[in-house]
Amino acid sequence: MSQPSRKISLTGIQSTGDPHLGNLVGAIRPALKLAESYETMYFIADFHAVNAVRDPQQLQHNIRSVAATWLAAGLDPSRTIFYRQSAVPEIFELNWVLSCVTGKGLLNRAHAYKAARDRNIEAGKDPDDGVNMGLFNYPVLMAADILIMEANVVPVGKDQVQHVEYAADIAGSFNHLYGDKYSFVIPEVLIPESEKARTVPGVDGRKMSKSYGNTIPLFLPENKLKKLVRRIPTDSTPVEEPKDPDSSSVFQLLELFGPDDLVAETRKRLEAGGMGWGEVKNQLFEVLNTELAPMRERYDELMAAGSDLDKVLAEGAERARERASRVLKSVRSAVGIDA
Ligand code: ADP
Ligand code: TRP
Repeated sequence: MSQPSRKISLTGIQSTGDPHLGNLVGAIRPALKLAESYETMYFIADFHAVNAVRDPQQLQHNIRSVAATWLAAGLDPSRTIFYRQSAVPEIFELNWVLSCVTGKGLLNRAHAYKAARDRNIEAGKDPDDGVNMGLFNYPVLMAADILIMEANVVPVGKDQVQHVEYAADIAGSFNHLYGDKYSFVIPEVLIPESEKARTVPGVDGRKMSKSYGNTIPLFLPENKLKKLVRRIPTDSTPVEEPKDPDSSSVFQLLELFGPDDLVAETRKRLEAGGMGWGEVKNQLFEVLNTELAPMRERYDELMAAGSDLDKVLAEGAERARERASRVLKSVRSAVGIDA
């Protein structure tokens, strides 16, 4: 069981698109590893996603899919708290109170909003063209996500650092006004291991990214995974000639996921000549499939109708709400809504 003295780490998960190997290595696994040193909480930022995904069925699918992904990747709901943001209404009540202590100027300077304005000005449009209040208020809702759980640290990538700093600022404003009655924990940014981890190359050798269309999705059926690996481009050096192992992402991926002795031997054989890329592709497929098959199986189970996915999330929400309602009660009383 978790020790009460451990610090709390809160990870917010965006529910967009099909997860790939890069996400697993660079985001999911490092986040799960935090459970070794922190009391961890993970939540799916599903109400945030309403502003990005306008197709209700797609949003439903994304929420289930991202939950199943993290569970399949090893998130242990008995050792952590795992929930959907939308299942914790206290967050939205706190969101209002926080917006009452947040300067508009602060939000004017938020990166995402500023970038939208700059694009509009560049294009000669009204600066707020196409900007909705969801985008503008995003940092306040994110502060509510963080502060309601009294998180000490928030692991985020570089693009989200400002948001955590805003949460700390907003907490400071509240504490300044009401601190004699209740003080929020001031959250800190935690730069996760992923920032130091190796970047996973995509099938074309560039960084694996949805935006480049070069990903290896985590839950491809076995035959599709095989086809995808076979299609990774390699040079056309004949089998018998020496090859530069690092010239293709086939070997780079093998290096990331394969056992050291296999990788070392394959490197030697490629450099010596006499080994073809086809054989390396077979090795890579085997290595990836061995790694992904159990996850894929668990994912498929969880995605099936009637699985225990909803139950797991409901239990998580119950535990999250215990904490959230305690904090909200203090806040309501601190501001004078309740006696
Ligand atoms: P994409 O580039 O596919 O849109 P995201 O921006 O949604 O991926 O990535 C979410 C997180 O996954 C990032 O913060 C990063 O830590 C991790 N990540 C994404 N692609 C890679 C990669 N190729 N190698 C390592 N980590 C990655
Ligand atoms: N904005 C984060 C992202 O884009 C997701 C998120 C929402 C989040 N609320 C959060 C992350 C609270 C950490 C804490 O990735």
